[in-house]
Amino acid sequence: MARLQAEHVYKVFGRRPEDAVRRLEDGASRDELRADGTTAAVIDASFSVDEGQIFVVMGLSGSGKSTLLRTLNGLLEPTAGSVRFDGQDLTSLSDKELRKVRSEKISMVFQHFALFPHRSVLENAAYGLEVQGVPRAEREKRATEALHLAGLKGWEKSWPDELSGGMQQRVGLARALATDADLLLMDESFSALDPLIRRDMQDQLLELQKTLKKTIVFITHDLNEAMRLGDRIAVMRDGRIVQIGSAEDILLTPANDYVASFIQDVDRSRVLTAGAIMVDADEVLGGTAQDGTELRTAADLLAAAPATVHRDTPVAELFGPCSTGSVPVAVIGADGELVGAVPVQRLLSVLSDGGQPDGDQKVTPAPARTAVRDSGDAAAEEPAGEAGDKPEGKVTAGA
Ligand SMILES: Nc1ncnc2c1ncn2[C@@H]1O[C@H](COP(=O)(O)OP(=O)(O)OP(=O)(O)O)[C@@H](O)[C@H]1O
Ligand SMILES: [Mg+2]
Repeated sequence: MARLQAEHVYKVFGRRPEDAVRRLEDGASRDELRADGTTAAVIDASFSVDEGQIFVVMGLSGSGKSTLLRTLNGLLEPTAGSVRFDGQDLTSLSDKELRKVRSEKISMVFQHFALFPHRSVLENAAYGLEVQGVPRAEREKRATEALHLAGLKGWEKSWPDELSGGMQQRVGLARALATDADLLLMDESFSALDPLIRRDMQDQLLELQKTLKKTIVFITHDLNEAMRLGDRIAVMRDGRIVQIGSAEDILLTPANDYVASFIQDVDRSRVLTAGAIMVDADEVLGGTAQDGTELRTAADLLAAAPATVHRDTPVAELFGPCSTGSVPVAVIGADGELVGAVPVQRLLSVLSDGGQPDGDQKVTPAPARTAVRDSGDAAAEEPAGEAGDKPEGKVTAGA
């Protein structure tokens, strides 16, 4: 069920922002507006996030990620469009109502999480509850639980300066968890951490999410982080969402050259799964493999396959079996039934082909104003990308 819904959200900074929205709707570009001293930070963003989902927003610096996030908790009012959480339109609330929703239902975790130096770790974790007016005993109990969830058991009485950067960031996470907020907004929350700790935090978030089932919007410019965490990923460019999809959608069918160049450094063998790249079993059944093995029925393939894997097996684990012979790897469903096959040629083409696995799925320049469909019902508009346009800035691909 969609808990968070953004519909045609615009955020324009500068003079006469409503006029700027009208001009954008009529096809004006961000650059034209900038010439007039107006910044279109978010342009026509639409998406929805279900309970239990991690929705990742990625894009280069300045693409509008933080601005979009701030419209989601009402810190910024959209110039146009609406944001709903549990059906309640945040834009329609009074300041007082909004503060209440923000303190009870929404938590933010920032990149550099500021802790109060003269408060213990426990008091820091309990801060959000203190703001809500929760009595001391209750808030200490909940903050203690949250610290345990965030992997900080035993550190409750310590002072912030006794903690490493990674541990301080965990206190930030614990503070967000302690409030029981259902919507977590995380802006580059792990970006200041070194790679191993960062990976640890990602694992911890995924683990927590299995039981807590929060609705999470997570911003990052790290592609591998986006691919690891995101149930769905939105790619932003110059204020617009240019594609929304699963990691696999984005790797296998990038919406345009911009997205394709964005993802070229992702380690696809770890992101893609057997289920995402397999071909129909019919394509390999009914004949004979190069080494003479007869593959007439599903049973033949299951008996002769160098490996039998589930749909969610990472492609990296298929290299070994695929290299041993000419019989494809068999992919099975939950009941052990054959659901597809991965021939070695397929594996190689997916890994070598820069986001264009099928010869017939070439990325063609987008026609003017292609609708980008979210898998929810919301749509975002995207202007034509010029052929060969590339992200201008640096994108980190390894955490
Ligand atoms: N309060 C503001 N007033 C005017 N312009 C702003 C304001 N906040 C953001 N902007 C502009 O909006 C655009 C988007 O900024 P935003 O901070 O959302 O980008 P971002 O994608 O989060 O970038 P980063 O990855 O560097 O954090 C930028 O051009 C920025 O200069
Ligand atoms: Mg930002």
